[in-house]
Amino acid sequence: MPYDQHIVRVNQRKEELKGKLEKELSGFSEISLEIGCGHGHWLVDYAAANQEKFCLGIDMMGSRIRRCIKKQERSGLPNVRFVQGEAFEVLETLPEKIKLEEVFILFPDPWPKKRHWKNRIINPKFLSQLATFCQQGVITHFRTDVEDYYNWAIEVVGGHPNWEITTDIEWPFERATVFQERSESYHSLIFRRV
Ligand SMILES: C[S@@+](CC[C@H](N)C(=O)[O-])C[C@H]1O[C@@H](n2cnc3c(N)ncnc32)[C@H](O)[C@@H]1O
Repeated sequence: MPYDQHIVRVNQRKEELKGKLEKELSGFSEISLEIGCGHGHWLVDYAAANQEKFCLGIDMMGSRIRRCIKKQERSGLPNVRFVQGEAFEVLETLPEKIKLEEVFILFPDPWPKKRHWKNRIINPKFLSQLATFCQQGVITHFRTDVEDYYNWAIEVVGGHPNWEITTDIEWPFERATVFQERSESYHSLIFRRV
């Protein structure tokens, strides 16, 4: 596809995403965000246990988000919503008044080959982008079953000027995600916006 057509499509997609986010987040200013929410099990249960919070789950895959929406509808919970979108684009198009209260990234795509590690969601550029929506003190919770991703995350987060790894906070809510159920073991990393 020619480059100018590609740009037109990207801009159209972002406009649609902006409209959806404005609709779903209307009336809210602080949200708990799950990036790569998969089928939404974790976030629906988290929202049920924390009804004072407003939770947004995002995932690139439309089929997964459709299942999430069904789950939200069945739950009847007013404080959880799901939107299809890529994490960078969602952050870029979030309504201006929205601030992230906390972030969850649970079992993200591992990109196991070393030459693909740059595609991992935990990377310096993404952490900088995420930081612009987080006030000081906001916590990001990351969990993976891939040991070298965990070590990579420690290195990337540890070397990032906007985030510090913390060990003084407990994992806030235990409910196995689909990928957690499939894994034999996992590692968690909690980091705070500085
Ligand atoms: C390995 S699955 C884990 C799903 C779920 N968190 C779980 O633990 O069962 C990773 C999910 O992240 C989504 N994903 C990957 N990269 C993404 C991105 N840049 N923005 C939004 N979603 C993304 C994928 O579509 C997929 O559903």
